[in-house]
Amino acid sequence: MTRPAADLSSRNPDWWRQAVIYQVYPRSFADADGDGLGDLRGITARLGHLATLGVDALWLSPFYPSELADGGYDVADHRDVDPRLGTLEDFDAMVAEAHRLGLKVVVDLVPNHTSHQHAWFQEALAAGPGSAARERYVFRPGKGAHGELPPTDWQSVFGGSAWQRVADGEWYLHLFASQQPDLNWDSEEVREDFRTTLRFWSDRGVDGFRVDVAHGLAKDLTDPLRDLGNLGATGEDALLSVAPGSHPYWDRDAVHEIYRDWRRVFDTYSPPRTAVAEAWVPDARRALYARPDELGQAFDFGYLVTRWDAAELRRVITGSLATAHAAGASATWVLSNHDVVRHASRLVLPPGTDENAWLLSGGRAPAIDRDAGLRRARAATLLMLALPGSAYLYQGEELGLPEVADLPTEVLQDPIWEQTGHVRKGRDGCRVPLPWTPGGPSYGFGSGGAWLPQPESFAAYAVEAQSGVEGSTLELYRTALRLRRKLLEGETLTWTPQVLDGVLDFTRTPGWRCVANCSGAPVPLPPGEVLLASSPLPGTEVLPPDTVVWVA
Ligand code: GLC
Repeated sequence: MTRPAADLSSRNPDWWRQAVIYQVYPRSFADADGDGLGDLRGITARLGHLATLGVDALWLSPFYPSELADGGYDVADHRDVDPRLGTLEDFDAMVAEAHRLGLKVVVDLVPNHTSHQHAWFQEALAAGPGSAARERYVFRPGKGAHGELPPTDWQSVFGGSAWQRVADGEWYLHLFASQQPDLNWDSEEVREDFRTTLRFWSDRGVDGFRVDVAHGLAKDLTDPLRDLGNLGATGEDALLSVAPGSHPYWDRDAVHEIYRDWRRVFDTYSPPRTAVAEAWVPDARRALYARPDELGQAFDFGYLVTRWDAAELRRVITGSLATAHAAGASATWVLSNHDVVRHASRLVLPPGTDENAWLLSGGRAPAIDRDAGLRRARAATLLMLALPGSAYLYQGEELGLPEVADLPTEVLQDPIWEQTGHVRKGRDGCRVPLPWTPGGPSYGFGSGGAWLPQPESFAAYAVEAQSGVEGSTLELYRTALRLRRKLLEGETLTWTPQVLDGVLDFTRTPGWRCVANCSGAPVPLPPGEVLLASSPLPGTEVLPPDTVVWVA
């Protein structure tokens, strides 16, 4: 029997449609040289873990030269490796080893901005107002009698004005940290440079790209620039209140031309290079990025932000499958990444909890039950892995790691903390280096400590502590991925009619039914052979709360 959608062989151009892709945050994965910062040789040495886990690909967050003002998303050179993380030769060796193990490699592309240390930005500063070098960025004179006020009221996602003034009096735009000046995508030179970058990594064997802030590149730069007024500052909320495509810098229609252009580059390779958009935009708009002549996929953050509630989950799943299908894309599920509270903690925060306030309380207000969180996280993962489409895992979730909510503020590195004047704690709690061994320096992360302190509780989560241990989260992921690979067929599901409230119940293929109990009470276990359960079952009759089963 041929199973095209599930054929993950290296030459299948559709390998990505139902792939499981593991996000590596390079600084926090494994440290080979003992400087406390993860590196490429560390990743290469640990690729066996990913092969054994059974994922199809790894996606690397930025490893490019960077002063790490935003964890590497401030890129000083898009076509090189940060010397602290290795060399281009180390990169090639990593790709070769990944391919040898049957793993594809996806790299992060950060096209919305550069680091202020990028040669272009340094040149722009030196060249002064009106120069061609400034045209690659968004420089403007300020308002006010002496230009002392920012050109517009645009806000940085990380807090405060999105404009920074330079010594000669002009201002430059930075939608993120001030060390991340936004590029001007109206500039043909910028466009050409990114084509070169796409080819540079594709020629080195990279299989795909994750596109950072994909909804931000095209800006309305017609002078005079428009104020936001009461449109709201940032993010999806702002977009819900404006006519689609009319916000001055998010999700403008013109951005799609850029991706159609990139698709032409991707398609010169065999198999074509793939891409996934990081676009925090409303559902219907997100699908546009995933069209086959654009990026092909867009992260489905709707699933990520949904509570553990059957009715809400069903609405989100149905909607996402429909929009992905209409776009000719496959759905793209995600529960955790380097920007959000880990799902082993998030899913048991009471509905309506202000996550930032919870982080500021060190995870104490409200206190959450770690076991209940893990139980629910395992269930949510098993549900996700049964859905049609591809799934993105974030390093450490296969260990059941919780958010490290009690990092002392003096160790915080996320620019959000400083830029909001210590109002928002930021994303460091999900970026703490991984535990590989239950003992030893930095739990096997490296010999020289870890750039963010690991809690003692990490010992029990270590890869070595869980490997081969029946019922461990790591073994659950391994079994789930092995089974999934065997069972995958088309990209559809059939909901079972008339189920109890609080239950999700669907069949993927005749031999693969998934039932999730999101209610607070036990429900009857469906008939058939239990292939896998997210938590131990008390017998053959009952499916306990917060548990998902796959049955044949
Ligand atoms: C994306 C990244 C995030 C980064 C931001 C700016 O949202 O995921 O980590 O801070 O872009 O590049």
